[in-house]
Amino acid sequence: MQTSKIYTIERFLLEQQSQFPHATGELTRILYDLALAGKMIARETRRAGLGTLLGAAGTENTYGERQQKLDVYADSLIFRLNDHTQRLCAMASEEHEEILTIPPHYGEGRYALLYDPLDGSSNIDVNVSVGTIFAIHRKVSTGEKGTLEDVLQSGRTLAAAGYMIYGSSTMMVYSTGRGVHGFTLDPTIGEFLLSHPDIRIPSPPMFYSANQGNEKFWTHGVRRFTRWLQGIDGEGGKPLSQRYIGSLIADFHRNLLQGGVFYYPGDMKKAKHPYGKLRLLFEAQTMAFIADQAGGYASDGIGDVLDVQPHQLHQCTPLFVGNRELVEQAEKFIAMHDQDWINTFRPYRDSVTQEA
Ligand code: AHG
Ligand code: MN
Ligand code: MN
Repeated sequence: MQTSKIYTIERFLLEQQSQFPHATGELTRILYDLALAGKMIARETRRAGLGTLLGAAGTENTYGERQQKLDVYADSLIFRLNDHTQRLCAMASEEHEEILTIPPHYGEGRYALLYDPLDGSSNIDVNVSVGTIFAIHRKVSTGEKGTLEDVLQSGRTLAAAGYMIYGSSTMMVYSTGRGVHGFTLDPTIGEFLLSHPDIRIPSPPMFYSANQGNEKFWTHGVRRFTRWLQGIDGEGGKPLSQRYIGSLIADFHRNLLQGGVFYYPGDMKKAKHPYGKLRLLFEAQTMAFIADQAGGYASDGIGDVLDVQPHQLHQCTPLFVGNRELVEQAEKFIAMHDQDWINTFRPYRDSVTQEA
């Protein structure tokens, strides 16, 4: 008889929680609620080609991008699954300019949830992997209701973070600061089962992932770094293969499991993304938290993404994430060649005036 344990996500979360005698179980239940959201979004992505949800919704989000219908569905679903549980004091979504408050007839809780409901949404119509990103902070404001202060926290103080990836299978990957664990959805029984316990980024790395179509806008240091990854410049070793999907989650997930570096740098010339394209709170902090817990590292080009104190809900950040030695190499090239860019980015990065 086989004796290896079968872990549903529920069993795993409960066993993890039991290691903390004072845990109230609220965080466990938030993660379980998010797993349910993941299953429901996975179901809709599977049907995306069938008509009702495919294509643009005709509205624009705070970045002026075309919102896809699945974005709208995922955004409202996550809110509705979490607004009444009395576990959250506030939410914030990449799709909304302001924080989302808990409706007054429901009680307030001790956590704040941030989410990117559908990451990689431009890939939906072409059947390429997309995902959902989440980050959970403890309430720090002292009033009864959650405020901006509860979501504008550094990645260091995250209580938990993770993502769902809707790919050839659906996975949920998360960390509560005790390693990174991955669960695969068995669609026949509707359960997430532990498939990837204690994930560590492997070495040597295999891939580098960046939108090289932007290379002409990149700073000198980032271009030198790219050549180093290709084994062309300096001490660079064996060239890495290039893989880029255009869904942060899918690019990050591949590199997490196979080793590599993802980067979306800031630049001086492309006015659209002087400070990078990705959002610190809805995308980068979670990637940094998971990478750190898996033995990797995330930098904004100047230093550790986890140490950046956010000042704006929709703050952008450059992101270099993956195997530590690769990310540190990026920092070295930037420090060596990109002082002008650092001087432009640093005041924005270190600004302290809080705003939505
Ligand atoms: P979102 O779909 O949530 O707006 O995120 C898209 C992001 C991210 O997933 C990806 O890494 C990046 O945009 C790709 O940007 P480019 O198309 O400029 O490469
Ligand atoms: Mn995104
Ligand atoms: Mn999104």
